[in-house]
Amino acid sequence: MTLAAGLPVAWLVARAAGLVAFGVLTLSTWMGLGMSTRLLGPRYQSRLLGWHRTLAWTGLAMLGLHVGAVLADPVMRFGLPAVLVPFAAPWRPAAIAAGVVAGWLMLMLTVSFRMRKLIGQRGWRRLHYASFAAFVLSLGHALASGTDLAGIGGPVLAVIAGGPVLWLTIVRILTPRAQRPQPAPAPATT
Ligand code: HEM
Repeated sequence: MTLAAGLPVAWLVARAAGLVAFGVLTLSTWMGLGMSTRLLGPRYQSRLLGWHRTLAWTGLAMLGLHVGAVLADPVMRFGLPAVLVPFAAPWRPAAIAAGVVAGWLMLMLTVSFRMRKLIGQRGWRRLHYASFAAFVLSLGHALASGTDLAGIGGPVLAVIAGGPVLWLTIVRILTPRAQRPQPAPAPATT
């Protein structure tokens, strides 16, 4: 393709998709914490759940594009083991390992939406604690391996994305479950 001649297309796609994947993961984490703190009240719970689920699947799709582009990049020379196994990458193995583990966690958490009945509400809730690890590892990975986040962009992104996560987590910890507004009872069926 003439337009692409000389341009490192795969590398540009990898960077763009990585940033979008992280943005979507961040929004999904905010929604999830918004649900568990019942921040917006019972009326918005099911809407938040819908957004949370859609964003999780979108993030996974973007992650697929990110990893696919990394594999296609002729300079980085990443093979399948490097993107599937932590610390197997030939370049910045620790920073990439954080992304690989976060990726596996994102896959597990997203697929768990479909297995909620099988796992049970309690187990599903416990499994969801892994989302904190997924968020922190993704942020660490982005800061330590990203080209675009090497300068001031890194700390700015960390504050914008991580600030609300930290705040909502503190609210979640400090509010006992009994004191959180409970969802409205389901309407009686005839
Ligand atoms: C198998 C898992 C992963 C692999 C192999 C991988 C690989 C890479 C590589 C090689 C880079 C450096 C690109 C560059 O030169 O700038 C990068 C950057 C990045 N990755 Fe990943 N990554 C993975 C998972 C993730 C996950 C789970 C996220 C977030 C949801 C993510 C988000 C990012 C972001 C935001 C950047 C920085 C983009 C930039 O600043 O240009 N990655 N990743």
